[in-house]
Amino acid sequence: MNARILHVSDLHAGRHESPEVEQALAAFVAERQPGLVIASGDLTHRGRRDQMERTHAFLASLGPPVLAVPGNHDIPAISPKRFLAPWAEFERVWGTCEPVHSGPELHVVGLNSVRPYRHQSGGLGGGRLHGAVARLREAPDGALRVVVLHHQLMAAPWRAARKRPLAQRGRVLRALADAGANLILSGHIHQSSVGERREFEVLGEGDRGVVLATAPGFGQPRPNRLGEARGLHLIGHDAETVEVETFLWSGGAFRLDATRRFSRAS
Ligand SMILES: [Fe+2]
Ligand SMILES: [Fe+2]
Repeated sequence: MNARILHVSDLHAGRHESPEVEQALAAFVAERQPGLVIASGDLTHRGRRDQMERTHAFLASLGPPVLAVPGNHDIPAISPKRFLAPWAEFERVWGTCEPVHSGPELHVVGLNSVRPYRHQSGGLGGGRLHGAVARLREAPDGALRVVVLHHQLMAAPWRAARKRPLAQRGRVLRALADAGANLILSGHIHQSSVGERREFEVLGEGDRGVVLATAPGFGQPRPNRLGEARGLHLIGHDAETVEVETFLWSGGAFRLDATRRFSRAS
């Protein structure tokens, strides 16, 4: 693989932070040298300024460029600001809730799937999906087209009752695939799940496959909660292949648990 992306999610800065896990990530990045770090939301636990600045400083300190999108924990919890200026702190620190990283090999479109009027569930209403499709179509020929959003389009089923997939998931998935998305990255559920659209949908002629990867949690804001995993994804890609490696935090280190390889041909 000639290019690598580090994908982390759900750092939840401000709640049960683990310096040893952060130090291990810094060493991991130094060793593996990804060209881009992607953080798919819930960077903070309460969306507070100090939490946002802290997680920004940590991710920036890793070295590679960082692309981040907000999660449902990155807006004020109980405050008029939740509805009047929900994105103010995120945008102050990160510049935008919908970043784009584009180069000859990689075109990454970040989306804001958070809905301030809902505590948990996400959606892409209000023109967000339309904008995403337009930005995906601006990709250079041959570049891997990646979409990043907090709320999952595919996940392990045992958390589905509490943390449902993105609203209108089927319609969104179809629209993103039609726009040429090769890879969709999410978090939110704190469990790893990696698969391809063809593995759960029979596709018709002209329909496109797309790889979906939901990252485990990087943080563990409620250490005693069952049914959550801690780790990260490392994604390699070249002209033919997308490869997702799942590393889980175990025994004081990130250990490789699985490697899944997909053909880019669709
Ligand atoms: Fe989270
Ligand atoms: Fe979340």
